[in-house]
Amino acid sequence: MVKENGLPEGFKKGLEDIIAAESKICKIDGQKGRLYYRGYKIEDLAENCTFEETSYLLLYGKLPNRKELDQFNKELSRMRNLPNYVVEILEKVVPKTTPMEALRTAVSALAGGDDDIKDIKTDYHIAIGKSLIAKFPTIVAYCYRIEKKLELVRPNPKLGLAANFLYMVKGKEPNDVETKAMDMDMVLHAEHGFNASTFAVRTTVSTLSDMYSAMTTGIGVLKGPLHGGAAEAVIAQLKAIGTPQKAEKYVKETLANHGKMMGIGHRVYKTWDPRAKILKKEAKKFSEIEGDMTWYNIAERIEKIMISEKGLYPNVDFFSAIVYSDLGLPIELDSPIFALARISGWTAHALEQYDDNRLIRPLEWYTGPMDLKFVPIDKRK
Ligand SMILES: CC(C)(COP(=O)(O)OP(=O)(O)OC[C@H]1O[C@@H](n2cnc3c(N)ncnc32)[C@H](O)[C@@H]1OP(=O)(O)O)[C@@H](O)C(=O)NCCC(=O)NCCS
Repeated sequence: MVKENGLPEGFKKGLEDIIAAESKICKIDGQKGRLYYRGYKIEDLAENCTFEETSYLLLYGKLPNRKELDQFNKELSRMRNLPNYVVEILEKVVPKTTPMEALRTAVSALAGGDDDIKDIKTDYHIAIGKSLIAKFPTIVAYCYRIEKKLELVRPNPKLGLAANFLYMVKGKEPNDVETKAMDMDMVLHAEHGFNASTFAVRTTVSTLSDMYSAMTTGIGVLKGPLHGGAAEAVIAQLKAIGTPQKAEKYVKETLANHGKMMGIGHRVYKTWDPRAKILKKEAKKFSEIEGDMTWYNIAERIEKIMISEKGLYPNVDFFSAIVYSDLGLPIELDSPIFALARISGWTAHALEQYDDNRLIRPLEWYTGPMDLKFVPIDKRK
Protein backbone atom coordinates (compact mmCIF):
# COMPACT_ATOMS: atom_id res chain seq x y z
CA MET A 1 0.00 0.00 0.00
CA VAL A 2 1.26 3.49 -0.88
CA LYS A 3 1.18 6.13 1.84
CA GLU A 4 0.30 9.83 1.47
CA ASN A 5 3.97 10.77 0.99
CA GLY A 6 4.11 8.48 -2.05
CA LEU A 7 6.20 5.83 -0.29
CA PRO A 8 5.10 2.23 0.28
CA GLU A 9 3.82 1.04 3.67
CA GLY A 10 6.69 -0.32 5.78
CA PHE A 11 9.43 1.46 3.82
CA LYS A 12 12.14 3.00 6.03
CA LYS A 13 15.18 4.66 4.52
CA GLY A 14 18.35 2.98 5.80
CA LEU A 15 16.19 0.07 7.10
CA GLU A 16 15.70 2.05 10.32
CA ASP A 17 13.67 0.06 12.91
CA ILE A 18 13.21 -2.84 10.46
CA ILE A 19 13.70 -6.28 12.04
CA ALA A 20 15.68 -8.33 9.52
CA ALA A 21 16.10 -11.68 11.35
CA GLU A 22 15.76 -13.49 14.67
CA SER A 23 18.96 -13.74 16.70
CA LYS A 24 20.06 -15.09 20.08
CA ILE A 25 23.38 -13.22 20.19
CA CYS A 26 22.83 -9.62 21.27
CA LYS A 27 20.09 -7.48 22.78
CA ILE A 28 20.21 -3.69 22.63
CA ASP A 29 17.67 -1.56 24.47
CA GLY A 30 18.18 1.79 22.78
CA GLN A 31 15.65 3.62 24.95
CA LYS A 32 17.14 2.53 28.27
CA GLY A 33 20.75 2.39 27.08
CA ARG A 34 21.30 -1.30 27.82
CA LEU A 35 23.34 -3.93 26.02
CA TYR A 36 23.55 -7.69 26.55
CA TYR A 37 25.68 -10.39 24.89
CA ARG A 38 23.92 -13.78 25.04
CA GLY A 39 21.83 -12.44 27.94
CA TYR A 40 24.76 -11.09 30.02
CA LYS A 41 24.98 -7.39 30.87
CA ILE A 42 27.82 -5.62 29.05
CA GLU A 43 28.93 -3.99 32.31
CA ASP A 44 29.54 -7.43 33.91
CA LEU A 45 31.40 -8.75 30.89
CA ALA A 46 33.56 -5.62 30.54
CA GLU A 47 34.50 -5.70 34.21
CA ASN A 48 35.13 -9.43 34.60
CA CYS A 49 35.93 -11.09 31.27
CA THR A 50 38.87 -11.23 28.92
CA PHE A 51 38.28 -10.80 25.21
CA GLU A 52 38.81 -14.55 24.68
CA GLU A 53 36.19 -15.38 27.34
CA THR A 54 33.73 -13.02 25.65
CA SER A 55 34.52 -14.46 22.22
CA TYR A 56 33.85 -17.98 23.53
CA LEU A 57 30.49 -16.75 24.87
CA LEU A 58 29.58 -15.21 21.52
CA LEU A 59 30.68 -18.24 19.48
CA TYR A 60 29.38 -21.06 21.69
CA GLY A 61 26.47 -19.33 23.44
CA LYS A 62 27.74 -20.03 26.98
CA LEU A 63 30.47 -18.72 29.25
CA PRO A 64 33.38 -21.18 29.31
CA ASN A 65 34.43 -23.02 32.46
CA ARG A 66 38.13 -22.86 33.39
CA LYS A 67 39.05 -25.96 31.35
CA GLU A 68 37.14 -24.80 28.27
CA LEU A 69 38.70 -21.34 28.45
CA ASP A 70 42.25 -22.75 28.84
CA GLN A 71 41.67 -24.96 25.82
CA PHE A 72 40.23 -22.05 23.80
CA ASN A 73 43.13 -19.74 24.77
CA LYS A 74 45.64 -22.42 23.72
CA GLU A 75 43.86 -22.96 20.43
CA LEU A 76 43.84 -19.24 19.63
CA SER A 77 47.44 -18.62 20.63
CA ARG A 78 48.57 -21.55 18.41
CA MET A 79 46.91 -19.90 15.40
CA ARG A 80 48.38 -16.38 15.68
CA ASN A 81 51.17 -16.75 13.13
CA LEU A 82 50.64 -15.68 9.54
CA PRO A 83 51.77 -17.74 6.54
CA ASN A 84 54.88 -16.20 4.94
CA TYR A 85 53.08 -15.38 1.71
CA VAL A 86 50.60 -13.22 3.61
CA VAL A 87 53.45 -11.32 5.30
CA GLU A 88 54.97 -10.78 1.84
CA ILE A 89 51.65 -9.45 0.54
CA LEU A 90 51.47 -7.07 3.52
CA GLU A 91 54.98 -5.84 2.78
CA LYS A 92 53.83 -5.00 -0.75
CA VAL A 93 50.47 -3.39 0.00
CA VAL A 94 51.08 -1.56 3.31
CA PRO A 95 53.08 1.34 1.80
CA LYS A 96 50.21 2.00 -0.64
CA THR A 97 47.15 1.46 1.56
CA THR A 98 45.53 2.28 4.90
CA PRO A 99 45.75 -0.46 7.60
CA MET A 100 42.04 -1.28 7.09
CA GLU A 101 42.64 -1.85 3.38
CA ALA A 102 45.71 -3.97 4.13
CA LEU A 103 43.73 -6.00 6.70
CA ARG A 104 40.98 -6.59 4.11
CA THR A 105 43.58 -7.74 1.57
CA ALA A 106 45.32 -10.06 4.06
CA VAL A 107 42.05 -11.75 5.09
CA SER A 108 41.12 -12.24 1.47
CA ALA A 109 44.59 -13.68 0.77
CA LEU A 110 44.31 -16.14 3.68
CA ALA A 111 41.44 -17.96 1.93
CA GLY A 112 42.84 -21.18 0.58
CA GLY A 113 46.23 -20.81 2.26
CA ASP A 114 45.36 -20.92 5.93
CA ASP A 115 47.30 -23.95 7.21
CA ASP A 116 45.59 -23.71 10.60
CA ILE A 117 42.33 -24.96 9.16
CA LYS A 118 43.56 -27.25 6.38
CA ASP A 119 42.91 -30.52 8.29
CA ILE A 120 39.55 -29.46 9.66
CA LYS A 121 36.78 -31.71 8.36
CA THR A 122 33.82 -30.62 10.50
CA ASP A 123 32.90 -27.31 12.16
CA TYR A 124 34.72 -25.65 9.30
CA HIS A 125 33.13 -22.22 9.72
CA ILE A 126 33.87 -21.91 13.42
CA ALA A 127 37.46 -23.06 12.80
CA ILE A 128 37.96 -20.25 10.27
CA GLY A 129 36.36 -17.78 12.68
CA LYS A 130 38.81 -18.82 15.44
CA SER A 131 41.76 -18.67 13.08
CA LEU A 132 40.80 -15.12 12.08
CA ILE A 133 40.15 -14.03 15.68
CA ALA A 134 43.71 -15.24 16.41
CA LYS A 135 45.29 -13.71 13.30
CA PHE A 136 43.65 -10.27 13.10
CA PRO A 137 45.88 -8.75 15.84
CA THR A 138 49.00 -10.09 14.12
CA ILE A 139 47.93 -8.66 10.76
CA VAL A 140 47.16 -5.24 12.26
CA ALA A 141 50.38 -5.09 14.29
CA TYR A 142 52.43 -6.14 11.26
CA CYS A 143 50.74 -3.45 9.13
CA TYR A 144 51.84 -0.84 11.64
CA ARG A 145 55.41 -2.09 11.99
CA ILE A 146 55.89 -2.53 8.24
CA GLU A 147 54.61 1.00 7.65
CA LYS A 148 57.01 2.40 10.28
CA LYS A 149 59.85 0.23 8.91
CA LEU A 150 60.22 -1.47 12.29
CA GLU A 151 61.24 -5.09 12.79
CA LEU A 152 58.20 -7.39 13.11
CA VAL A 153 57.46 -8.61 16.64
CA ARG A 154 56.33 -12.25 16.50
CA PRO A 155 53.29 -13.24 18.61
CA ASN A 156 54.11 -14.23 22.19
CA PRO A 157 52.03 -17.34 23.04
CA LYS A 158 52.41 -16.68 26.77
CA LEU A 159 50.40 -13.44 26.53
CA GLY A 160 46.62 -13.18 26.21
CA LEU A 161 45.20 -11.80 22.97
CA ALA A 162 44.87 -8.16 24.14
CA ALA A 163 48.30 -8.02 25.82
CA ASN A 164 49.93 -9.75 22.86
CA PHE A 165 48.44 -7.19 20.48
CA LEU A 166 49.90 -4.29 22.49
CA TYR A 167 53.20 -6.17 22.66
CA MET A 168 53.34 -6.76 18.88
CA VAL A 169 52.51 -3.11 18.10
CA LYS A 170 54.76 -1.43 20.66
CA GLY A 171 57.51 -4.04 21.04
CA LYS A 172 57.13 -3.94 24.83
CA GLU A 173 54.97 -6.06 27.13
CA PRO A 174 52.10 -3.99 28.58
CA ASN A 175 51.47 -3.72 32.33
CA ASP A 176 48.30 -5.11 33.95
CA VAL A 177 46.42 -1.79 33.79
CA GLU A 178 47.11 -1.43 30.07
CA THR A 179 46.19 -5.06 29.41
CA LYS A 180 42.89 -4.71 31.30
CA ALA A 181 42.04 -1.52 29.37
CA MET A 182 42.72 -3.21 26.03
CA ASP A 183 40.74 -6.31 27.01
CA MET A 184 37.85 -4.16 28.20
CA ASP A 185 37.85 -2.08 25.05
CA MET A 186 37.81 -5.22 22.90
CA VAL A 187 34.98 -6.76 24.93
CA LEU A 188 32.96 -3.57 24.41
CA HIS A 189 33.56 -3.62 20.64
CA ALA A 190 33.09 -7.38 20.15
CA GLU A 191 29.42 -7.38 19.21
CA HIS A 192 26.52 -5.04 18.53
CA GLY A 193 23.55 -6.72 16.90
CA PHE A 194 22.59 -5.86 13.32
CA ASN A 195 24.99 -2.96 12.79
CA ALA A 196 25.91 -2.29 9.15
CA SER A 197 29.02 -4.53 9.01
CA THR A 198 27.36 -7.47 10.79
CA PHE A 199 24.32 -7.24 8.53
CA ALA A 200 26.68 -7.23 5.53
CA VAL A 201 28.49 -10.30 6.91
CA ARG A 202 25.16 -12.10 7.27
CA THR A 203 24.10 -11.06 3.77
CA THR A 204 27.32 -12.54 2.35
CA VAL A 205 26.84 -15.77 4.32
CA SER A 206 23.21 -15.97 3.19
CA THR A 207 24.37 -16.68 -0.37
CA LEU A 208 26.32 -19.63 1.14
CA SER A 209 29.54 -17.86 0.31
CA ASP A 210 32.57 -18.62 2.50
CA MET A 211 33.78 -17.19 5.83
CA TYR A 212 36.77 -15.33 4.36
CA SER A 213 34.48 -13.53 1.92
CA ALA A 214 32.07 -12.71 4.73
CA MET A 215 34.81 -11.29 6.96
CA THR A 216 36.28 -9.32 4.08
CA THR A 217 32.82 -7.83 3.55
CA GLY A 218 32.66 -6.94 7.24
CA ILE A 219 35.98 -5.09 7.14
CA GLY A 220 34.97 -3.15 4.04
CA VAL A 221 31.73 -1.99 5.64
CA LEU A 222 33.25 -1.24 9.05
CA LYS A 223 35.83 1.03 7.42
CA GLY A 224 33.38 3.87 6.67
CA PRO A 225 33.44 7.00 8.85
CA LEU A 226 29.77 6.55 9.80
CA HIS A 227 30.68 3.16 11.34
CA GLY A 228 34.11 1.99 12.58
CA GLY A 229 36.00 4.81 10.93
CA ALA A 230 34.54 7.28 13.44
CA ALA A 231 37.24 6.81 16.13
CA GLU A 232 39.94 8.15 13.80
CA ALA A 233 37.71 11.09 12.93
CA VAL A 234 37.20 11.79 16.66
CA ILE A 235 40.95 12.29 17.15
CA ALA A 236 41.13 14.56 14.09
CA GLN A 237 38.25 16.55 15.62
CA LEU A 238 39.98 16.83 19.04
CA LYS A 239 43.19 17.98 17.33
CA ALA A 240 41.30 20.56 15.27
CA ILE A 241 39.63 21.97 18.40
CA GLY A 242 42.87 22.11 20.38
CA THR A 243 41.67 23.42 23.76
CA PRO A 244 38.46 22.98 25.82
CA GLN A 245 37.76 26.73 25.53
CA LYS A 246 37.43 26.41 21.75
CA ALA A 247 35.02 23.43 21.86
CA GLU A 248 31.77 25.38 22.02
CA LYS A 249 32.59 27.57 19.01
CA TYR A 250 33.67 24.50 16.98
CA VAL A 251 30.49 22.55 17.78
CA LYS A 252 28.22 25.52 17.04
CA GLU A 253 29.94 26.19 13.72
CA THR A 254 29.79 22.51 12.74
CA LEU A 255 26.07 22.33 13.49
CA ALA A 256 25.38 25.65 11.75
CA ASN A 257 27.08 24.23 8.64
CA HIS A 258 24.99 21.03 8.93
CA GLY A 259 28.16 19.06 9.71
CA LYS A 260 28.41 16.11 12.08
CA MET A 261 30.29 15.83 15.34
CA MET A 262 32.12 12.52 15.10
CA GLY A 263 31.66 9.96 17.87
CA ILE A 264 28.24 11.42 18.63
CA GLY A 265 24.82 9.97 17.84
CA HIS A 266 23.61 6.46 17.19
CA ARG A 267 20.91 4.81 15.12
CA VAL A 268 19.66 2.68 18.02
CA TYR A 269 20.60 4.44 21.29
CA LYS A 270 18.41 7.38 22.17
CA THR A 271 20.24 7.90 25.44
CA TRP A 272 23.75 7.09 26.72
CA ASP A 273 25.41 4.19 24.90
CA PRO A 274 26.42 1.98 27.88
CA ARG A 275 29.79 1.28 26.22
CA ALA A 276 30.54 5.00 26.01
CA LYS A 277 29.75 5.37 29.73
CA ILE A 278 32.33 2.69 30.60
CA LEU A 279 34.91 4.10 28.17
CA LYS A 280 34.41 7.61 29.51
CA LYS A 281 35.60 6.40 32.94
CA GLU A 282 38.57 4.63 31.30
CA ALA A 283 39.46 7.74 29.30
CA LYS A 284 39.40 9.84 32.47
CA LYS A 285 41.54 7.33 34.37
CA PHE A 286 44.16 7.13 31.61
CA SER A 287 44.23 10.87 30.99
CA GLU A 288 44.92 11.34 34.72
CA ILE A 289 47.68 8.72 34.60
CA GLU A 290 49.15 10.49 31.55
CA GLY A 291 48.83 13.85 33.35
CA ASP A 292 47.16 15.48 30.33
CA MET A 293 43.41 16.08 30.51
CA THR A 294 43.17 18.29 27.40
CA TRP A 295 41.43 15.84 25.07
CA TYR A 296 39.24 14.47 27.84
CA ASN A 297 38.12 17.98 28.78
CA ILE A 298 37.41 18.89 25.15
CA ALA A 299 35.41 15.67 24.78
CA GLU A 300 33.40 16.42 27.90
CA ARG A 301 32.57 19.93 26.59
CA ILE A 302 31.40 18.47 23.26
CA GLU A 303 29.36 15.80 25.08
CA LYS A 304 27.53 18.37 27.23
CA ILE A 305 26.74 20.72 24.32
CA MET A 306 25.54 17.91 22.03
CA ILE A 307 23.28 16.43 24.72
CA SER A 308 21.74 19.76 25.68
CA GLU A 309 21.44 21.26 22.17
CA LYS A 310 20.66 18.19 20.04
CA GLY A 311 19.73 15.41 22.47
CA LEU A 312 22.54 13.33 20.91
CA TYR A 313 24.88 11.26 23.10
CA PRO A 314 28.45 9.98 22.73
CA ASN A 315 28.77 6.57 21.08
CA VAL A 316 31.40 3.85 21.57
CA ASP A 317 33.98 5.62 19.38
CA PHE A 318 33.97 8.92 21.25
CA PHE A 319 35.98 8.00 24.34
CA SER A 320 37.66 4.86 22.96
CA ALA A 321 39.69 7.15 20.70
CA ILE A 322 41.16 8.83 23.80
CA VAL A 323 41.84 5.48 25.51
CA TYR A 324 43.76 4.22 22.43
CA SER A 325 45.81 7.37 22.31
CA ASP A 326 46.65 7.09 26.03
CA LEU A 327 47.64 3.46 25.48
CA GLY A 328 50.19 4.75 22.97
CA LEU A 329 48.36 3.27 19.99
CA PRO A 330 48.63 5.24 16.76
CA ILE A 331 45.47 6.88 15.45
CA GLU A 332 45.59 4.97 12.14
CA LEU A 333 45.01 1.73 14.07
CA ASP A 334 41.73 2.88 15.64
CA SER A 335 39.49 1.33 12.97
CA PRO A 336 41.54 -1.91 12.65
CA ILE A 337 41.32 -2.33 16.45
CA PHE A 338 37.54 -2.14 16.12
CA ALA A 339 37.78 -4.88 13.47
CA LEU A 340 39.98 -7.16 15.55
CA ALA A 341 37.35 -7.07 18.30
CA ARG A 342 34.24 -7.19 16.07
CA ILE A 343 35.50 -10.32 14.28
CA SER A 344 34.06 -12.32 17.22
CA GLY A 345 30.60 -10.86 16.74
CA TRP A 346 30.82 -11.30 12.96
CA THR A 347 31.77 -14.95 13.44
CA ALA A 348 28.90 -15.58 15.87
CA HIS A 349 26.45 -14.03 13.40
CA ALA A 350 27.90 -15.93 10.44
CA LEU A 351 27.46 -19.21 12.34
CA GLU A 352 23.88 -18.32 13.26
CA GLN A 353 23.13 -17.44 9.63
CA TYR A 354 24.68 -20.68 8.23
CA ASP A 355 22.74 -22.62 10.83
CA ASP A 356 19.32 -21.38 9.75
CA ASN A 357 19.88 -19.77 6.40
CA ARG A 358 17.56 -18.02 4.04
CA LEU A 359 18.93 -15.82 1.26
CA ILE A 360 18.78 -12.15 2.32
CA ARG A 361 17.21 -10.39 -0.60
CA PRO A 362 15.11 -7.29 0.11
CA LEU A 363 13.20 -5.22 -2.45
CA GLU A 364 13.75 -1.70 -3.67
CA TRP A 365 11.09 0.95 -4.37
CA TYR A 366 11.75 1.88 -7.97
CA THR A 367 11.43 5.63 -8.61
CA GLY A 368 13.06 5.90 -12.06
CA PRO A 369 11.40 6.40 -15.46
CA MET A 370 9.45 3.67 -17.27
CA ASP A 371 8.73 2.61 -20.87
CA LEU A 372 11.39 4.84 -22.45
CA LYS A 373 11.74 4.63 -26.20
CA PHE A 374 14.88 2.62 -27.08
CA VAL A 375 17.30 4.60 -29.29
CA PRO A 376 19.98 2.65 -31.27
CA ILE A 377 23.55 3.66 -30.27
CA ASP A 378 24.36 5.58 -33.46
CA LYS A 379 21.26 7.73 -33.08
CA ARG A 380 21.84 8.72 -29.45
CA LYS A 381 22.79 12.35 -28.74
C1 LIG B 1 25.76 7.16 13.86
C2 LIG B 1 24.90 7.91 12.86
C3 LIG B 1 25.34 7.54 11.43
C4 LIG B 1 23.44 7.49 13.05
O1 LIG B 1 22.77 8.16 12.09
P1 LIG B 1 21.23 8.04 11.69
O2 LIG B 1 20.46 7.22 12.63
O3 LIG B 1 21.20 7.65 10.26
O4 LIG B 1 20.79 9.51 11.89
P2 LIG B 1 20.98 10.67 10.85
O5 LIG B 1 22.37 10.75 10.34
O6 LIG B 1 19.86 10.55 9.85
O7 LIG B 1 20.72 11.91 11.80
C5 LIG B 1 19.44 12.30 12.32
C6 LIG B 1 19.53 13.75 12.70
O8 LIG B 1 20.48 13.91 13.75
C7 LIG B 1 21.59 14.70 13.31
N1 LIG B 1 22.82 14.05 13.75
C8 LIG B 1 23.03 12.73 13.93
N2 LIG B 1 24.28 12.52 14.34
C9 LIG B 1 24.86 13.72 14.42
C10 LIG B 1 26.14 14.14 14.78
N3 LIG B 1 27.07 13.27 15.12
N4 LIG B 1 26.43 15.47 14.75
C11 LIG B 1 25.48 16.36 14.40
N5 LIG B 1 24.24 16.01 14.04
C12 LIG B 1 23.93 14.71 14.04
C13 LIG B 1 21.52 14.69 11.79
O9 LIG B 1 22.13 15.80 11.22
C14 LIG B 1 20.03 14.64 11.57
O10 LIG B 1 19.51 15.93 11.79
P3 LIG B 1 18.30 16.50 10.92
O11 LIG B 1 17.15 15.55 11.19
O12 LIG B 1 18.10 17.86 11.45
O13 LIG B 1 18.75 16.42 9.51
C15 LIG B 1 25.02 9.44 13.07
O14 LIG B 1 24.64 9.78 14.39
C16 LIG B 1 26.41 9.94 12.76
O15 LIG B 1 26.74 10.18 11.59
N6 LIG B 1 27.30 10.10 13.81
C17 LIG B 1 28.66 10.52 13.59
C18 LIG B 1 29.50 9.34 13.10
C19 LIG B 1 29.78 8.35 14.20
O16 LIG B 1 30.15 8.72 15.30
N7 LIG B 1 29.62 7.06 13.87
C20 LIG B 1 29.91 5.98 14.78
C21 LIG B 1 28.67 5.21 15.11
S1 LIG B 1 28.96 3.98 16.33
